[in-house]
Amino acid sequence: MDVVVTEVPERHRFEARLNGSLAGHVEYARLGGKILLTHTEVDGAFEGKGVGGELARTALDSARANGLVVRPLCPFVAGWIRRHPDYVALVDPIDRMRVMAAAKVAD
Ligand SMILES: CC(C)(COP(=O)(O)OP(=O)(O)OC[C@H]1O[C@@H](n2cnc3c(N)ncnc32)[C@H](O)[C@@H]1OP(=O)(O)O)[C@@H](O)C(=O)NCCC(=O)NCCS
Repeated sequence: MDVVVTEVPERHRFEARLNGSLAGHVEYARLGGKILLTHTEVDGAFEGKGVGGELARTALDSARANGLVVRPLCPFVAGWIRRHPDYVALVDPIDRMRVMAAAKVAD
């Protein structure tokens, strides 16, 4: 299944599309040099197929490319980062303990 994720800055979110249909999104807010990833939502028809993961990966790759510090306030993104340790270095130190510990509860 081909998931295409694009940033839609006017809606402050990244959107995932499957065959042109909106399948999910991750919302964000920008604050100085930081990006707050606040909420992820995938349409029930597409859950468990990796759409949420692609949204998390694309938002985090974009943050890395733009030199932004990430605050993963969304528990799904926090859990995804814990399972992909290459991305932990992007996380604001203020959130790292929560990402590595509390995110286990949300897995
Ligand atoms: C949570 C949600 C975004 C996941 O989207 P998805 O496309 O089904 O996710 P993926 O298929 O990419 O990934 C599934 C993985 O996420 C994990 N996961 C599912 N829900 C999770 C949650 N609430 N928190 C953390 N991890 C979660 C699964 O255990 C699975 O892990 P695995 O890959 O190790 O097996 C989706 O189920 C959803 O929209 N839920 C309702 C809204 C919500 O709870 N949002 C998150 C809080 S902001």
